[in-house]
Amino acid sequence: MPLVCLTDFQAYAQEHLSKSTWDFIEGGADECFTRDDNMAAFKKIRLRPRYLRDVQEVDTRTTVQGEEITAPIGIAPTGFHCLVWPDGEMSTARAAQAAGVCYVTSIYASCPLEDIAAAAPRGLKWFQLYMQPDRQLNKQLVQRAESLGFRALVITVDAPKIGNRRRDFRNQLNLKMNLLLKDLRSPKERNSMPYFQMSPIDSSFCWNDLSWLQSISRLPIILKGILTKEDAELAVKHNVHGIIVSNHGGRQLDDVPASIDALTEVVAAVKGKMEVYLDGGIRTGNDVLKALALGAKCVFLGRPVLWGLAYKGEHGVEEVLNLIKNEFHTSMTLTGCRSVAEINQDLVQFSRL
Ligand code: FNR
Repeated sequence: MPLVCLTDFQAYAQEHLSKSTWDFIEGGADECFTRDDNMAAFKKIRLRPRYLRDVQEVDTRTTVQGEEITAPIGIAPTGFHCLVWPDGEMSTARAAQAAGVCYVTSIYASCPLEDIAAAAPRGLKWFQLYMQPDRQLNKQLVQRAESLGFRALVITVDAPKIGNRRRDFRNQLNLKMNLLLKDLRSPKERNSMPYFQMSPIDSSFCWNDLSWLQSISRLPIILKGILTKEDAELAVKHNVHGIIVSNHGGRQLDDVPASIDALTEVVAAVKGKMEVYLDGGIRTGNDVLKALALGAKCVFLGRPVLWGLAYKGEHGVEEVLNLIKNEFHTSMTLTGCRSVAEINQDLVQFSRL
C-alpha cells in the first residue's frame, strides 16, 4: 500500500525500528502533554478560504535568511540518524538538497560534518549547536561548520539540561554506549583523541555570551526554543538574526504551550526585526499554511524526517518532503493563495473547542 500522509510513515517506522530507537524518537518529556498538544493545537485553528481567484499558478517558493528554498518547509535538527539508517545524516542531507529545502544539522550528528557537507554540497545547510562547556571546542566547531559551507548557526536554548524522557529511562537507553559521536572533532584530531561522549551542555551560557559567539563567526545566529515575548525582545536586543519558536517537540520542559500557540506572542514581540520560524507538530500542508498565516517564515519537521529515513533512507526522506510540499501546494490553492506572500492572518480563525 502506498504511504499517502506523514502518519503512514510513522506507522511504518514504528513497525520496523527497534523498540528503544522508536521510543527515543517518539518520546516526550514527563507526561508528553506538550508533545501531544503540539499536534492538537493545530486542530483548534480553522481555515478561511477565499475563492474565485486565479490559482492556476501557485508558487510555494520563499527565502530564509536571504536564500531561496522551494517551500517554507525545512528539516529540524535531530541527532543520531545512523540509529535509523546506515548512511544517517548523509542520506538526510542528500534528500534535503534534492527537495531544495534547508537542513539544520544537529551537533549530535552521527556522521562527520565533512561527510555531510560533501554528501550535499549544493544544499542549504545550517548547523545546530548545543553550547559545550569547552569554549575552544565551540569555536572549533563553529569555524569548521562555517568553512564547510553551513550558512547559519542555530543555537538551541531550551536544553541547559536534558528533559525527563521516561521511555528512555525505562529502556535504559545509553546513547554513549550505542553511538560514537564522530562529529565534534576535526578529522585530524579524531584519531588521537577519545570519541566525544554526550557531554553536559553548558548550562551557564546566557544572553551576554552571545556577543562572544558573534565575535568568532560572521554567520547569522538563530535561537531555537524561544517561547515568550520577553525572550523574543531580548533576542532583538542582542541582534540575533532569527528565532525558531519550538518546545523541542515536547522533549524538554513539559507543560509549556504548543509551538503554534506561542508563535503569535513571539511574532508580535519581534515587530518584523527578524525572521521567525516554527517547529513542533507539523504533520500536514494545512499545518504549514496555518503557521505561515500566524507569522512564521518557514517551518521545520523533526520526527517525520526520521520516519522517512527509517522507510527508505534518502529516498524516504525525499518522499516525506515532497508529500508535505504537495499538500502545502494544495492548501495554498484551496485557500486562494498564489504566492507565499499572500498568506496572512485573515486565512485563519480559532475554533471555540
Ligand atoms: C530532536 N530535537 C533536537 N533539537 C535540537 O536542537 N538538537 C538536537 O540534536 C535534537 N535532537 C532530536 C532528536 C529527536 C529524536 C527528536 C524527535 C527531536 C528537537 C527537534 O529539533 C524539533 O524541535 C522537534 O522534533 C520538532 O517537533 P516534531 O516535528 O518532531 O513534532
